[in-house]
Amino acid sequence: MNKILTLAITAAAVLTNTFAADVRSAIESPDAKKILKKDYLGPAKNYKMPAGCISNDPDAIARGKFIFHNLNGEQAKGKLPKGLDRNLANAEPKQYGNCVACHNIEDAQGAGNIGPDLTNYKMYFMDSKTRDNAWVYQKIADPRTDNENTHMTVNLTTGLFTPTEICEITSYIVSEKK
Ligand code: HEC
Repeated sequence: MNKILTLAITAAAVLTNTFAADVRSAIESPDAKKILKKDYLGPAKNYKMPAGCISNDPDAIARGKFIFHNLNGEQAKGKLPKGLDRNLANAEPKQYGNCVACHNIEDAQGAGNIGPDLTNYKMYFMDSKTRDNAWVYQKIADPRTDNENTHMTVNLTTGLFTPTEICEITSYIVSEKK
């Protein structure tokens, strides 16, 4: 009886091995590797804040605010501020910053709390000299230099935003809000 059972198990094992689909080639496909490599960002990058980056211009701040509070072009709320051009070839599908998904800030609707609350940022972080403009610019451009395990989106190294747009987002965050 035992012998028959052993035979049956051996036969089953042989059959399984013979007919099991070999998925290794699909998993290790060179094409899939190419896609993964293309998406790999490489090491965190340090950026120099451009000259004249931080602005008091209400239009620049309005653009930064719009990017901060919105995600998708079609779902974006409110009027598009003057001069906001988001026709970047590689900006799809995330056309705006969606920073409110993780950060609360003045006027935020349905803000998330994965990241720190940026309400009263000027008073708490700038006036107190805890941060400076260049630090905030770098944090938005590539937050990994500050925290290599950050959950925050990488915005300049990915090409999601231009340096000018990051200046405008920074100008908005550090600005005095009514
Ligand atoms: C997926 C969540 C997430 C998103 C989206 C996100 N952040 Fe963050 N952010 C974080 C977390 C978490 C931190 C805390 C530090 C860290 O872990 O990197 C942070 C930190 C920051 C800080 C530093 C605050 C300080 O002084 O300590 C700033 C400024 C900031 N984020 C701005 C932004 C802006 C602007 C956007 C949109 C372009 C954004 N974040 C989108 C999660 C997020």
